[in-house]
Amino acid sequence: MVLTKSVSGCRCFRLPLFLLLISFTYSQSLAQTPAEFFKKNCASCHTIGGGRLTGPDLKDVSKRQSRDWLVKWLLDPEGVLKSGDPYAVKMQKESRGAVMTRAPGITGEMANALLDLIAAESKLEKSQFAGLQISNRPLLPEDIDEGRALFMGGKPLKNGAPACISCHTVNSMESIFGGGRLGPNLTRAYARLQGRKGLSSWLSAPPGLTMTPIFSKYPLDAEEILPLVAFLKKETEMDKPVQSTAMINFLLFGLGGAVLLLVLFDLIWNKRFRGVRKAMIEKTYEGFNS
Ligand code: HEC
Ligand code: HEC
Repeated sequence: MVLTKSVSGCRCFRLPLFLLLISFTYSQSLAQTPAEFFKKNCASCHTIGGGRLTGPDLKDVSKRQSRDWLVKWLLDPEGVLKSGDPYAVKMQKESRGAVMTRAPGITGEMANALLDLIAAESKLEKSQFAGLQISNRPLLPEDIDEGRALFMGGKPLKNGAPACISCHTVNSMESIFGGGRLGPNLTRAYARLQGRKGLSSWLSAPPGLTMTPIFSKYPLDAEEILPLVAFLKKETEMDKPVQSTAMINFLLFGLGGAVLLLVLFDLIWNKRFRGVRKAMIEKTYEGFNS
């Protein structure tokens, strides 16, 4: 009795549990091969020989920069950018302002191993990191509907991740359903992550502190990515262009309306003028005749 009470009320379990968790994650990161590390932490933004995603294609990157610079970059990209390094600043401009953040758990040793891996993969005809094969088929209206259902939770995500709406919203849904505030509004995510290819690979292994732990455990199914992309593309398209066409329509209707009114006034006025004149002339004639 006394024992159970003291055990359940004891906080002393927390520290060992915490240490166990730490050592577990630590041993996990030690056990990770560079390829696994790359796949988990880099492939969502970079290919090797598959073209640009959010970040530049890393093929032959060691021919563009020295090993020292690259290691420094991998260990502290934000610091290098902040220091005003011209190469980094130019690179960021080319990435439309996207920022690379330090990969969780990266060490100097891992950074060097990753650069060795990138150099080796750059020599291959086709690297295993040339990017995922994203279907090129046209996006259909059904894809948009399915994506909306996945986003809203009407259709559960296959591998058990929570629906996007629990942390995100988009403009078309916000007024009706609200949505989560933990993550950013995704109305312009399709544009921000550079379209179909960028967004697809982003979703295949979402980086970021909040999404990585959830989606590396409960990843999106390949079949779910295309509909989600279709839905988010539609959201981006509905955002700006609609507003500007609405503005143009308003202006055109306004202008058209004003012209129509002028013409109408002119007609009425003319008629009235003629009417008055006619009567006057007739009166004059009457005078002559009598
Ligand atoms: C969130 C997206 C993102 C992730 C994740 C990411 N990067 Fe980057 N990376 C970028 C962007 C964007 C740039 C261009 C510089 C900038 O805008 O910050 C870049 C630049 C680089 C460069 C320099 C490229 C060149 O052309 O000189 C290297 C090397 C690099 N990243 C390696 C990595 C490695 C290795 C990882 C994984 C540990 C990684 N990146 C993870 C987005 C990312
Ligand atoms: C548990 C909360 C949570 C869930 C669930 C979630 N996200 Fe996120 N998401 C975030 C947060 C927070 C960020 C900001 C970056 C970070 O901290 O990870 C983010 C960032 C993003 C971004 C990048 C936005 C940008 O402009 O950079 C996209 C795209 C995205 N999420 C899509 C989705 C999609 C699609 C789903 C559903 C399949 C989803 N998210 C589910 C929390 C979540």
